[in-house]
Amino acid sequence: MQLASEPSISDELRRRFSSARRVLVLTGAGVSAESGVPTFRGGGNSAVWKGMPFDVISSARMVERDLPAVWEWFDYRRGLLQELKPNPAHNEISAWQDRFSEFTLVTQNIDGLHQKARSRDVIELHGSIWRVRCVGCHSRFEILSTQPRAEACPDCGDPVRPDVVLFGEMLPAGVFEQAAAAAANCDLCFVIGTSALVYPAASLPDIARVVGAFVCEVNPEKTPLSDLCDESLMGRAGEVLPLISR
Ligand code: OAD
Repeated sequence: MQLASEPSISDELRRRFSSARRVLVLTGAGVSAESGVPTFRGGGNSAVWKGMPFDVISSARMVERDLPAVWEWFDYRRGLLQELKPNPAHNEISAWQDRFSEFTLVTQNIDGLHQKARSRDVIELHGSIWRVRCVGCHSRFEILSTQPRAEACPDCGDPVRPDVVLFGEMLPAGVFEQAAAAAANCDLCFVIGTSALVYPAASLPDIARVVGAFVCEVNPEKTPLSDLCDESLMGRAGEVLPLISR
């Protein structure tokens, strides 16, 4: 039985999906929404932490001014994420990896849920909440969810900070270039659960379009990308993605 709200998958998309060789998937916070991860934007709202807009608390300036406050926000988010599980969208994307001869998953998410769903070689544009980085020597360390995090770098003693990209910071060297190269080489591109407002991530579908790839968006809301895509599937990723391969 088909639900009234289910978007219908075009024959064109089904044909592209069955013949594609090089697939790029770009995900954003919306892919984790059905796991219980709050999005930053969407539904007319914007995330706020203790009265501060998320782009203020998650900023390079705040690391300089008040690193403990930044840690408080990321510790809170890590605590939330610890118990959460991948949802059908993560699982579907993970299954796609073995279906295509070349498959690249690029995420803006720092939550690690794609990896929990067994996706491999995930390109994390904005870093990971499960790593810390020394502000002095730049050594990186994993944080296991069960451990209290270190306050200082075990190598040099300088403070550590979340190994995530904050507003006002550059992406890690080479990471965007790797994603852009995959976008420039793909024949099918999915853009899933992102407001497509944050650059350079939002430029990846444009790169795919320029090289003639078929671009499909999955999002319950319209974004600046919607009218530029070949297909826009308005719905929740965990419900829509399984329909594509069905
Ligand atoms: P946003 O919070 O900006 O956008 C989330 C998008 O997901 C919105 O367009 C929602 O409509 C959509 N959405 C909500 N529920 C969904 C569902 N069940 N299925 C599919 N889509 C759904 O998140 P991002 O676009 O990821 O960066 O934000 C980009 C970056 O801005 C983040 O990586 C983060 C943030 O500031 C940094 O922190 C550097």
